[in-house]
Amino acid sequence: ISGVKYPQSDNPPLKFEVLATSGMARAANLTLPHHVCSTPMFMPVGTQGTVKGLTSQQLVDLNAGVVLGNTYHLGHRPGPDVMQKVGGLHTFMNYPRAMLTDSGGFQMVSLLSLAEITEEGVKFQSPHDGSTMILTPELSMQIQNSIGADIMMALDDVVSSTTTGPRVEEAMYRTLRWIDRCIAAHKRTDEQVIFAIVQGGLDAELRKTCIEGLVARDFPGYAIGGLSGGESKDSFWRMVALSTAGLPPNKPRYLMGVGYALDLVVCTALGVDMFDCVFPSRTARFGTALVSTGSLNLKSAEYINDFGPIDSECECMVCKNYTRAYLHIVAGKESIGGQLLTYHNIAYQMRLMRELRQSIIDNKLSEYINRFISLQYPKGD
Ligand code: GUN
Ligand code: ZN
Repeated sequence: ISGVKYPQSDNPPLKFEVLATSGMARAANLTLPHHVCSTPMFMPVGTQGTVKGLTSQQLVDLNAGVVLGNTYHLGHRPGPDVMQKVGGLHTFMNYPRAMLTDSGGFQMVSLLSLAEITEEGVKFQSPHDGSTMILTPELSMQIQNSIGADIMMALDDVVSSTTTGPRVEEAMYRTLRWIDRCIAAHKRTDEQVIFAIVQGGLDAELRKTCIEGLVARDFPGYAIGGLSGGESKDSFWRMVALSTAGLPPNKPRYLMGVGYALDLVVCTALGVDMFDCVFPSRTARFGTALVSTGSLNLKSAEYINDFGPIDSECECMVCKNYTRAYLHIVAGKESIGGQLLTYHNIAYQMRLMRELRQSIIDNKLSEYINRFISLQYPKGD
């Protein structure tokens, strides 16, 4: 992309330095063109160029490192032409730190039951004019190059985690074939990196084959995909454990679409460095606040006369300035209710990750996990 000013950086496209380990878990610094991130980390999701309810300045105040955007949504609106004219999503949404874009296929498959996968790409009806469109690995890379996120995800063939049979194997091998097309189509290698995505459903052998194929291609980072879609916790964690065990120790590992507190804790212990999920912001818009003992439904009448903060241990802007009684009035109804609860919930995720990181550095991860479990599950269940 020439003639357009994208924000420049002296940082390398990616550097990953492990500072401390505890079992499989690691604390590391991930240097990207637009930010040096402390891992393990949670990445707020801003699908359409906004983390719903938060300004870019608030994301910086919350000390977010990476914010997610999506190729499928941004490719439609505003589209790659506007993206190129403005010099990418960093400038467009005025977010100076690092960004990551998902490749788009997963969203089409999960949003549009009409999407059809062929060897060429993901075929779907345009939500705008109904015409048939196809998101190929080449088009996904072209759009992601125009968006300019620090990290781009390869276009993968995703099947639901509860799918079984030959379709799982087909999707895994297709993901490997598509990734070579992604590599060939990527035009801004000095400024952006591609992360590969491990697929293979809940089949240990397929996952291992996929990991072998991806690791042979030597990516700067690897994601674990196709999970957290309704499978049991047991098989979910088993697939995460075998994936982190097979991936290179000196490269970042990103578990896609995972953001429940318990999963963040367990999967950090299993060696995951990066997470994203709409859960904390979505549940905030429905009136739920995340706290160390689980969650509070602020719409409940029990908060009418409760003049304490959401969480007395939270130091976020919302907990400093607003009572549960006030939030009860706006939660789930007023836009400010969604905004304030989203702010607190992202602060909650950030603090959890910061504490996990510190406990790895202090060699106290198992104590931290025990304390976390006893607070969240006091009856031992
Ligand atoms: N988001 C959550 N899971 C996935 C996945 O398996 N692939 C992609 N591309 N995005 C995801
Ligand atoms: Zn708070």
